[in-house]
Amino acid sequence: MIFTASDFDNHEKVLFCTDTRTNLKAIIAIHSSRLGAAAGGCRMYPYASEREALDDVLRLSRAMTYKNALAGLKLGGGKSVIIGDPAELGAPDRLAAFGRCVEALGGAYWTAEDVGVNVDALEHVARTTRYVFGTKSRKGATGDPSAFTARGVFAGLRAAVRHRLGRENILGLRVAVQGVGAVGWELCSLLHNHGAKLVVADHNSGATERARRAFNAQVCASERVHAADVDVLAPCALGGTLNERTIPEITATVVAGAANNSLKNAAAGAELHRRGILYAPDFVINAGGMMHASAEIFGSHDTAAVTRAIDGIYETVIRVCSRAQAENTLPELVAQQLAIESLLHAEN
Ligand code: NAI
Repeated sequence: MIFTASDFDNHEKVLFCTDTRTNLKAIIAIHSSRLGAAAGGCRMYPYASEREALDDVLRLSRAMTYKNALAGLKLGGGKSVIIGDPAELGAPDRLAAFGRCVEALGGAYWTAEDVGVNVDALEHVARTTRYVFGTKSRKGATGDPSAFTARGVFAGLRAAVRHRLGRENILGLRVAVQGVGAVGWELCSLLHNHGAKLVVADHNSGATERARRAFNAQVCASERVHAADVDVLAPCALGGTLNERTIPEITATVVAGAANNSLKNAAAGAELHRRGILYAPDFVINAGGMMHASAEIFGSHDTAAVTRAIDGIYETVIRVCSRAQAENTLPELVAQQLAIESLLHAEN
């Protein structure tokens, strides 16, 4: 049931990869290669079912098409998932087996880190394929992209605050950061340095304790952070946290974070809009890491140009939000439309 799956969007290729020796079960989805080779990270996660893994890779790869197009990159959208626990013994060999599957595609898909595959784990993928970026040790390595992602999220968050709350700065702004991992931590640091007041939540109490000490952050339980009394909610954990259970309890008027696919479904976006909550589309504001790491694909790195492009996410969000307001529609629909327009433009 691929072609009829609700998240199937005429993906060009969906490949199921196995390796019995390492117990690899992976899916690579290439959503679009109209702008160039498909590029996007590899997620390793103990999915409850194959269906869940398939849905995830279909949604994530489509978002990569939009993300790369809006970021102005000559790259298509792709993503991969490995069904499994990254902490399990044997994960390194499984990653190397996955690399062989990527290599066999001959550059049609480039892989990188994502949840469960950090910069160290990616080294195992790089043992068996050339088509990997965001590495730490290869020629032209760009390393962990998280700080660049956070810089872009910060720019997008400020733009959303400017649009929704009419505020030019974030001094005294209350922001709840859900998930203080690689990106969430860097985002906390930027927000704190610019005078925001932080509420943080994470399943990992060590991370929240560090944030409490470093940023004078208030610590909140993970299952209640969406309802924190704040101006902005920044989802920086896993996707799907904006849903029918959490949205009615959100008091923030801006939602802007790094997590891919924070909206559980299209209805969640519509419900936020109905409640007057501005959602800064994740695939617009979390593109900073991709903008930085993709230099490894192109074999050139102009730090100043990349930094300008990441900071340009501010203007993109202003453009998206203004058009959404003028057309009384959702920012994520406007952003998708802009991405589709650049795909069509590339075809002509
Ligand atoms: P990470 O794995 O370093 O951090 C995620 C954190 O969220 C962990 O500390 C985890 O304990 C916590 N967490 C998980 N579920 C939670 C919950 N329900 N409530 C509170 N905390 C929870 O991941 P990273 O790299 O920081 O990425 C965060 C999100 O941003 C992911 O959705 C990822 O796909 C997305 N993203 C990351 C990019 C990057 O450059 N690292 C680029 C673009 C998107």
